Amino acid sequence: MKNIQDLIGKKLVLSGWLHGIRGSNRFQFITFRTDGILLQVIAEKEKLGEEEFHKIKSLNQETSLQISGELLANEKAPLGVELNLDSLEIIGKSNDYPITPKEHGTDFLMNHRHLWLRSKRQLAILRVRSELSFQIRNFFHNKSYLNLDTPILTGSVGESAGTLFSTEYFDLGSAYLAQTGQLYLETGIFAHNKVYCFGPTFRAEKSKTKRHLAEFWMVEAETAFCGNDSNIDLQDEFIRTVISETISKTLPELAILERDVEKLQNYIKNPIPRIDYSDAIELLKKHNFSIEWGDDINAEGENNITEELQSPVFIKNYPRAIKAFYMKQNPSNPQTVLCADLIAPEGVGEIIGGSEREEDFHKILERIREEGLPEETYEWYLDLRKYGSVPHSGFGLGLERLVSWICGVPHVRECIPFPRMMYRIHP
Ligand code: 4AD
Ligand code: MG
Repeated sequence: MKNIQDLIGKKLVLSGWLHGIRGSNRFQFITFRTDGILLQVIAEKEKLGEEEFHKIKSLNQETSLQISGELLANEKAPLGVELNLDSLEIIGKSNDYPITPKEHGTDFLMNHRHLWLRSKRQLAILRVRSELSFQIRNFFHNKSYLNLDTPILTGSVGESAGTLFSTEYFDLGSAYLAQTGQLYLETGIFAHNKVYCFGPTFRAEKSKTKRHLAEFWMVEAETAFCGNDSNIDLQDEFIRTVISETISKTLPELAILERDVEKLQNYIKNPIPRIDYSDAIELLKKHNFSIEWGDDINAEGENNITEELQSPVFIKNYPRAIKAFYMKQNPSNPQTVLCADLIAPEGVGEIIGGSEREEDFHKILERIREEGLPEETYEWYLDLRKYGSVPHSGFGLGLERLVSWICGVPHVRECIPFPRMMYRIHP
């Protein structure tokens, strides 16, 4: 539905569901769900007659209906409008709908995810997600990036051998579910200079944290003739643009989620600060973290840094040993790579990982060997370093983590329709 306010004064016929109902002996207020919005409908006994009013009063939650009536302005109604009911027809009955207005535990709701999606908060979150996905595509489209769809079944390890889902692939041995589209995206820059992909990615990560999924959506961009700093410039523009566009299109949803929108807007008002990994370690040491140069920064550490800066932050140039094989060695400090992670505040943590790529044939082959990766499956990838290799960079953003930040929803399981986690494959 476009803007419902524009329909004030019109007679409408709507199809949808009874989300909730309350009222008295003279009036019933139906919350009617259609097109993902919750519309207030008022049924008056005097107007509809005793029999019809009684039928309405005894309707169950989630009954599907066709209704008609005039749309009137009403400041007190949640959308500022209210439908004054003329007639109502039952399409499909609903008995004993399991999710009632009372409190349910998360496990119960997760088991009923197929129904839980109808609830107010879930409607709001998935509408924000949908808008954000659109804005992400729009951003790259406006910058003339080509959308290159990368495969989900792959023959080589994309990110790390430790977190692969594998499956038998005809007579050709194992295939893996893609952990990233990056390596394929890198092929695309030689044809189109600027490419992006946006799709599901898979990690068999045995982590039960609030930011890990086994299946998540990632948008990745790859740019030819682009160094690490220009790559960070692009990420900065990208993240601030898609957040601000999404906010402006989803204010009613963010209000339902009780998100402090001003706080979020303040985080993206100015370019996002950039600090070096080494300085991040020094800062954490100062805050009594037991951490040494060379260690990865965990969620608690990330949180501490964003709290200190009161801002999202790019952490640059991590140690080579803890990052993926394809990252380019930093010429001014060979123990590090030219990369950056974008860390979001408010407990969200890493939302983007990006880097300049190693463009030298021998150096990247050496890294593949160092990591013990099966060299023969990278022949095609190594070809890219043989035929017109160029400096290039890219990054990947985890969609659910950004949805969770924008919505102020602490756990990523609510930020995707059907979360796949270590202990959950149903529904
Ligand atoms: O940092 P990651 O592993 O980077 C890559 O995959 C690169 N190939 C991207 C690139 O340069 N083209 O993952 C990128 C982002 C993370 O910052 C995080 O937001 C998200 O993907 N992510 C996850 N989100 C939910 N559940 C998980 N298990 C995730 N693992 C990574
Ligand atoms: Mg990462």
